[in-house]
Amino acid sequence: MGCVNFTIREYRPQDFDTLWRIDQECFPPGISYSRLELAVYMRRAASFTLIAESVVNASNRLATEALPDAVSPIEILGFIVATCNRKRMSHIITIDVRQDARRLRVGSGLLKAAEKRLRTARSSWVELETAVDNLAALAFYKRHGYDLVKTIPRYYSNGVDALVLRKDLFSTSEGS
Ligand SMILES: CC(C)(COP(=O)(O)OP(=O)(O)OC[C@H]1O[C@@H](n2cnc3c(N)ncnc32)[C@H](O)[C@@H]1OP(=O)(O)O)[C@@H](O)C(=O)NCCC(=O)NCCS
Repeated sequence: MGCVNFTIREYRPQDFDTLWRIDQECFPPGISYSRLELAVYMRRAASFTLIAESVVNASNRLATEALPDAVSPIEILGFIVATCNRKRMSHIITIDVRQDARRLRVGSGLLKAAEKRLRTARSSWVELETAVDNLAALAFYKRHGYDLVKTIPRYYSNGVDALVLRKDLFSTSEGS
């Protein structure tokens, strides 16, 4: 398994253009968000956005050496948008990791940080939708304990079905 040294921090307004560009890279047309859609989801009252950012520490040259070639020091590697506006049921809106930073545990770090925050808000369950043909996401969520709830036919504007996945935030050791 590879690794990259990264930290999770809160979203800042100046991050927005970078996040939108990453979302465009992550999803095909019809699934990726317009700038307005992304902004609306992020600005919902109960939403939060967390950022995974590469870390370079002058006293730790290995941190720099561990970065993939295309990743320059201190760059946004990915982000997650989540909301907990329904009673006890929260929602992952999107989780996006740059292509050149994948399979390095960045997505796992973002998901775990968001789940931790949702538990703190006393949310019992988290749900999300993902495209039936997004095999990477399905493997990723399965790895993190998400179960299939149902299929929503033609959920996306490109006609692709969505799978609704759900996790009991307090059923695993992470929740205790
Ligand atoms: C899905 C996504 C967020 C995963 O992020 P990531 O940082 O690459 O994931 P991690 O490195 O934390 O992966 C953890 C585990 O998930 C599984 N996984 C992740 N990507 C996988 C892939 N492409 N194929 C198979 N399994 C995968 C593996 O079990 C992996 O562990 P391993 O690398 O030791 O085998 C990333 O691929 C992505 O941003 N995709 C585009 C956007 C997207 O589809 N988002 C999800 C839908 S909202």
